[in-house]
Amino acid sequence: MNKLPASAVEVRGLHVKRGTTEVFTSLDFDIPRGQITGLMGPSGCGKTTLMRSIVGVQKVAGGTVTVLGDPAGTSTQRRRVAYDTQAASVYGDLTIEQNLRYFARIIGAPRSDVERVIDQVGLSGQARQTVDSLSGGQESRVSLAVAMLGSPELLALDEPTVGLDPVLRAELWDLFRGLAADGATIVVSSHVMDEALRCDRLILMRAGRIIADTTPTGLLSDTGQTDPDAAFLTLIERDVAGAGHTPTTRRAAREDGSE
Ligand SMILES: Nc1ncnc2c1ncn2[C@@H]1O[C@H](COP(=O)(O)OP(=O)(O)OP(=O)(O)O)[C@@H](O)[C@H]1O
Ligand SMILES: [Mg+2]
Repeated sequence: MNKLPASAVEVRGLHVKRGTTEVFTSLDFDIPRGQITGLMGPSGCGKTTLMRSIVGVQKVAGGTVTVLGDPAGTSTQRRRVAYDTQAASVYGDLTIEQNLRYFARIIGAPRSDVERVIDQVGLSGQARQTVDSLSGGQESRVSLAVAMLGSPELLALDEPTVGLDPVLRAELWDLFRGLAADGATIVVSSHVMDEALRCDRLILMRAGRIIADTTPTGLLSDTGQTDPDAAFLTLIERDVAGAGHTPTTRRAAREDGSE
């Protein structure tokens, strides 16, 4: 068996332009294996672009993204890396079960996975309903179920809990925790800062830069806050003032010429 690298994802000098927007000029970070890494930050900061870069669908202008030991997007990663996009990407006129059977066939996942993932996202009662007839929260869980087919080693989940009630959100976080306990690496973006506290690791971004690469405990202790929203605002304010206290923040400040 091949020796596995310690990091599931290694990003070096990542430069991405989308249209005329310079989304990232030079990003560097690692994502450890078997952990839940949260990608947090204001709308437009680059969370989706980063996910796209990791799963290999984003055109990059420079730098490298290495995923599970190979360049992002390598064809062998098709089964090993899954991406749950921010917008639901399933067929509205097919039932949940039909969608999952279809995607299972495409990625070569066992047929028995269909029932398993439907159950894991709590949609067994709706399995024979068309996606068009589902509520928004149910529909987003169908895409999540698709991402879980074939038990991928890395799951990139872009805001998987948006629009879900607190009970369902807690259930899904338990599910993510279970997947990580089984060895999967999970990268999950969210706007909801209390979800940050459920991650093992946190990457906080602002305007295409990483302003903190930390842990939930580190986030709260570095800022002296007890509330994650307040902690994040503190980091943003520090970044705006160009007076960051973390090495990552200071490096970013140097890079954009403010230090
Ligand atoms: N096709 C595009 N052409 C030009 N700019 C783009 C394109 N797609 C994204 N952008 C810009 O890239 C930046 C990062 O966008 P991205 O979608 O990664 O942000 P995000 O953090 O996921 O935001 P949100 O929380 O709203 O989902 C934004 O400024 C956005 O306007
Ligand atoms: Mg996004």
